Amino acid sequence: MAQRKPIVAGNWKMNGSVELVSEIGSAINECKNEQVDIIIFPPAPLLLKVVEFGISVGTQTVSEFNSGAFTGELSAELAKQLGATHTLVGHSERRIIFGESNESVADKFAKAQENGLIPILCVGETEQQRDAQETEMVVAEQINAVISKLGIAALLNSVLAYEPVWAIGTGKTATPEQAQAVHKFIRDMLSKQSEHVGDTLQILYGGSVNDKNSKSLFIQPDIDGGLIGGASLKADAFVSICNSAL
Ligand code: G3P
Repeated sequence: MAQRKPIVAGNWKMNGSVELVSEIGSAINECKNEQVDIIIFPPAPLLLKVVEFGISVGTQTVSEFNSGAFTGELSAELAKQLGATHTLVGHSERRIIFGESNESVADKFAKAQENGLIPILCVGETEQQRDAQETEMVVAEQINAVISKLGIAALLNSVLAYEPVWAIGTGKTATPEQAQAVHKFIRDMLSKQSEHVGDTLQILYGGSVNDKNSKSLFIQPDIDGGLIGGASLKADAFVSICNSAL
């Protein structure tokens, strides 16, 4: 079995400030460790500030277009020029609030890779879908949209994040067993198409991860770290989550 390096990623959403970059940037630089990759996804205007701290940084979304008359869109090419290494694509808030479809998420995934960014593809079911036993179907459709467009090998240069919508910002974390079951489903599904992809793809869990529950989630065999929202805005909590991935 491949050794997958854990990732702890902080998605600040539309929060944070220049001061917070200094506070969290210094805290991360003190706890940095070769065994865990730490990536911050701040609001786009703070990208360069994070880069100044020598910390890996990504955007929270990226445009499926190149450049031109697309007011307000965020160019993958420019993000790369500014030092971004990653981008989130298909976060449920983008899907639900901004109407991003599986197809447009696949286009964004492609645009990120074309420009040398590593996409973190976010997938996950709503509470109603879970109650209707549709979790596996929904997650499979979200992933298959990317595979149909780009082929299974495209996943080699990407990361996946399983974020059940009902667990995001609710304090209602998936239990380690619930999360592990979905991660294993994803890995098995991918392995059927490519054992190598199934074995090596890092799959993160996101949804109300905090410094109390992170360890129990991260020790699951198919969970390779976390995508952290609220708790990534508090230096102490975030550092302790990063340490729990060791
Ligand atoms: O992308 C991270 C995320 O949506 C989880 O947010 O606040 O539940 O940790 P939170």
